This record gives sequence, C-alpha cells and structure tokens, in this order.
Amino acid sequence: RSPLLHRNHHHRRLLAKEMPFTPDNELDLLFPASLISPEVKSQLHTDLHVRRPCHPISPLLKTRLPQIRPLASTDHGRGHLSVLSVLTVATDHGEAAWKSQFDALRSAPNTYFGLVIVDKASDRIVGAGTLFIERKFLRGLGSVGHIEDIAVDKAQQGKKLGLRIIQALTHISEVSGCYKTILNCSDANVPFYQKCGFEKKENEMAKYA
Ligand code: ACO
Repeated sequence: RSPLLHRNHHHRRLLAKEMPFTPDNELDLLFPASLISPEVKSQLHTDLHVRRPCHPISPLLKTRLPQIRPLASTDHGRGHLSVLSVLTVATDHGEAAWKSQFDALRSAPNTYFGLVIVDKASDRIVGAGTLFIERKFLRGLGSVGHIEDIAVDKAQQGKKLGLRIIQALTHISEVSGCYKTILNCSDANVPFYQKCGFEKKENEMAKYA
C-alpha cells in the first residue's frame, strides 16, 4: 500500500471510529439553534486554527472542530453532568430524572437557554452554560438575563471555550431584549469575567435552606 493510500485508509478508519457525532437537525433541542450567534460559532473554529497557524484547516481537522449548540434532550448520555462537576458535586439521578428536568425547563418558553460545546470527534460535551431570562414589571416591563453554571472540562480549559460560551449567552440575552446581563462568581473568576467584558457591580447575598 502506498503511503498516501495508507494515510487515507487511516483517516477513514479514524472517521468511522471516532465520528458518532450527531448534527443539530437530528437532535431534540431546548431552544432554536438559530439563536446561537454565527460569529461565535465561527470564532470557535478560528480559535483552534490560530493555535496551529502554520497548517491550513485539513478536512480531518474540520470534522474535529468543536460545535456550540443548544442543550439536547439526549445530552445526559454525552457527559453533561461530568462537565458540570467542575462547579460542584454533580450527583447523577439517572437519565429519566435528567430528561424530566429538561422537559420542565423547555415548558417555560423563552426562559431557559442552556447551551453546550461538543467535541465532534467523541460527541462528548466539553463545556456548558445557561442563561435564564427574568421578566420584570419595572424598566418598561423589561427583562434581565442571568448567566448561570458556566463549566469547561478541566482538560479543555484555557482554550477560549469559556469566553465563547459567555459571548453566546450574552448574544441570546441581548437579542431577546434584556437591558442587562448579570451573574455571580467567586473572586477567583473575576478576571475571567472582566476579560469577557463584564464589570464588578454591587454585592451578592445568599441564604441557604
Ligand atoms: N483568572 C484570570 N484569568 C482567567 C481565569 C482566571 N481564573 N480564567 C480564565 N482567564 C482568562 C484566560 O487566560 C483568557 O485570557 P486571554 O484572552 O488573555 O488569553 C480569558 O480569561 C478567557 O479564558 P477561557 O480560555 O475562555 O477560559 P476557560 O475556557 O478556561 O473557562 C472557566 C473559564 C469557565 C472559569 C473555567 O476555567 C471553568 O470551568 N472553571 C471551573 C468552574 C467555574 O469556576 N465556573 C464559573 C463559575 S461562575 C458562574 O457560573 C456564573
């Protein structure tokens, strides 16, 4: 076998074995995929390319670029909870309980926007975040976007995935008409959110049950 044939064969095998990736149109999504900023989608790909500036994006690499999309009803099986476990203990109550929470979120229209970043090669989730939209009587019956539960898999941190999640959630908040987007975080995460364009404002108060 020639080296080229061998390489193609090797690539085909890789694709066949490592590409159980499910495209958006085959998934049952929490909200319409059209709400994901096209700019953020393409930046996710540029980020990866910039790290390897001397190589053009090969067809094989294209199949491995991460994908940002709304949370899907089958994401329990793609490691959603293991990604969230970088935030706190993420107890798994089973797929049925996870799915019924997904259905509860979806039954409140235009309110919960959970999104994920999926590694295409493995079809596993490597990042996640949520926007919750609060409707008010104040501010001309305005709305506020709350960003919650931002998590990037430990092995993938520092590759701008967190930044892209925040940008995608802020885009949804803004196109939904929210007059501000807010979040709570630890002191250690303040520099990250400042890099995402957020500024420190007021205090967080909490009372645990
Ligand atoms: N301190 C200083 N700078 C930081 C930090 C930090 N803790 N984290 C990221 N940055 C900087 C990066 O260096 C980068 O700067 P650059 O543009 O100059 O290179 C910029 O912020 C963007 O960083 P990303 O690569 O996008 O960060 P990452 O993908 O690692 O995601 C995150 C950051 C979400 C905090 C991730 O590290 C994580 O999952 N941590 C554990 C869970 C957590 O703390 N989540 C946030 C909870 S708060 C909430 O959910 C509202």
